Amino acid sequence: MKHVLITGGAGFIGSNFIHYLLRIEPGIHVINLDALTYAGSLENLKDVADDPRYTFVQGDICDTEFVGELLKKYEVDTVVHFAAESHVDRSILGPRQFIETNIMGTFSLLEAARKFWLQEKSLPLENVRFHHVSTDEVFGSLAPGEPAWTEETPYAPNSPYAASKASSDHLVRSYGHTYGLPFTMTNCSNNYGPYQFPEKLIPLIILNALDGKPLPVYGDGQQIRDWLHVEDHCEAIHLVLKKGSIGSTYNIGGENQPANLTIVETICEILDEISANDNHKPHKNLIEFVKDRPGHDRRYDMDTHKISGELGWRPRHTLTEGLLNTVNWYLSHPEWVSAIRQKQEYKGWLDANYKSR
Ligand code: NAD
Ligand code: DAU
Repeated sequence: MKHVLITGGAGFIGSNFIHYLLRIEPGIHVINLDALTYAGSLENLKDVADDPRYTFVQGDICDTEFVGELLKKYEVDTVVHFAAESHVDRSILGPRQFIETNIMGTFSLLEAARKFWLQEKSLPLENVRFHHVSTDEVFGSLAPGEPAWTEETPYAPNSPYAASKASSDHLVRSYGHTYGLPFTMTNCSNNYGPYQFPEKLIPLIILNALDGKPLPVYGDGQQIRDWLHVEDHCEAIHLVLKKGSIGSTYNIGGENQPANLTIVETICEILDEISANDNHKPHKNLIEFVKDRPGHDRRYDMDTHKISGELGWRPRHTLTEGLLNTVNWYLSHPEWVSAIRQKQEYKGWLDANYKSR
């Protein structure tokens, strides 16, 4: 792992992963390929922009020729593929871009990698790796009491987002099986932490609460997600790159099962404790139950025995401590927050999703 192409490195998890990799791998060269959609921001990487081990390239993963040139130019031996449209609600309002980026984009990367590594045989095959970052949402939804998903659970995606990620997973697997492309894949649960775009539940609730705006809870708020701090996700991906077996997929999860309403109430309690602004206390009075997400998955739960047994990975952050440090991160980064709040795409999204809900 010398020259690593990270796709979507200006987004939430990708930028955290680049920080992590530069910290832990002194001899590495990271090439970040990102289209800088509404979800990507170079603000997320300001502190590494001048690191000689880091190169940013603005571009689209759907452009196979361009990706091929990058692979060649930088002699890329490892691709870590994060780039995607990632927000379920947006996929419900406008699915097309999810099909383009998540399916066609992954196909395009696979084709470029196949040409460079397998057809042109540019690098020794044992040195190359395509790592695909995927989601637990490909497994569908669990009823109360149903066992957690394992790597063997059949796919049953419910939203256009989940279906597009499931398709991309199948494509990656097929390139491994048919062409012998050396791949690994991880399916991870809900991430939270620094640099998350505030359209997702946790940062949205933090920022709305600070502003004294309503805190929208979909339906009855009893949907369950399996929350994982983003640093734990980064550590797991790194471990899979180092020690994971080729052709394998690994589930990653946070080993916790709170209802959405509990998450929102916990954030309110943290803010009541630490926020200097007294006007909106108690913050839980801002909670508003709103119309449910269509087709809303009820419960997610990941069985992580494979990655813990084979690779020794366990999440380091508890949810309580992780939420506290996330709230503190948003409070201590007002410039980052205000830059996002000024983005027209952000304001437009809040209107589109919440105004006439
Ligand atoms: P994000 O939306 O924050 O970031 C996505 C990034 O991809 C952005 O920087 C965007 O500019 C870039 N991008 C989008 N289309 C592109 C294109 N055509 N070409 C190049 N770059 C493009 O997403 P995230 O939350 O960081 O998620 C990253 C990956 O992890 C996704 O594949 C997602 O499915 C997966 N995942 C996310 C979570 C989660 O909780 N956020 C959990 C499990 C898996
Ligand atoms: O499970 C992994 C997935 O987690 C990732 O693959 C996705 O990229 C990521 O966006 C996330 O999907 P979710 O739909 O679970 O995340 P979101 O933060 O949008 O919503 C979390 C839960 O909170 C979900 O049950 C919907 C609910 N919710 C969300 C928002 C934005 C609300 O109740 N109110 C809201 O305003």
